[in-house]
Amino acid sequence: MSASIDLTTAIRSIPDYPKPGIIFRDITTLLGDAVAFRQAVDELVAPYKALGIDKVAGIEARGFILGGALAHQLGAGFVPIRKKGKLPHQTVRMAYSLEYGTDEMEIHVDALKPGEKVILTDDLIATGGTAEGAVKLIRQLGAEIVSACFVIDLPEIGGRKKLEALGVEVRTLVE
Ligand code: PRP
Ligand code: ADE
Repeated sequence: MSASIDLTTAIRSIPDYPKPGIIFRDITTLLGDAVAFRQAVDELVAPYKALGIDKVAGIEARGFILGGALAHQLGAGFVPIRKKGKLPHQTVRMAYSLEYGTDEMEIHVDALKPGEKVILTDDLIATGGTAEGAVKLIRQLGAEIVSACFVIDLPEIGGRKKLEALGVEVRTLVE
């Protein structure tokens, strides 16, 4: 087995994007690096392999890329959680808080069955508002949220604590 790399070196930081004062953590460089992408996916799935996970739920948009890879490795199904108005079938909708203001996200009403074991994933957790909305949708369908995993945690913004206060285990790879 080859030595692991420091995944922070594969993530690009863009100052003042999308607005002044924000340092945007850009994972497209990690996704485009075959070694880093494989390592990130391997590290994210490792704790879940023996847990009998039924579905991986990914948050639009970057959570789709990671979620598809995780689902494949776990032999699980993939479920998209999308911004409102994008899913074609009947949905359940949830408002969620962003840094400034609110938006709404949706899941197909039949995407999860009661009791199914679900992992939630996204590229990054900042305030945790997006992930909190997703956890509520998963629970509204009666499924069990086993864990939530992210490549990047921005710990000073407090999203991890917000999810843990909801009783959700949180796993992240880099800060
Ligand atoms: C980013 C990121 C998470 C969310 C995290 O998505 O991919 O989904 O922000 O922020 P939070 O923890 O403060 O809620 P964004 O809203 O930029 O959407 P996009 O992936 O569609 O660009
Ligand atoms: N979503 C919220 N904050 C972000 C950041 N700093 N970089 C990338 N995506 C984000």
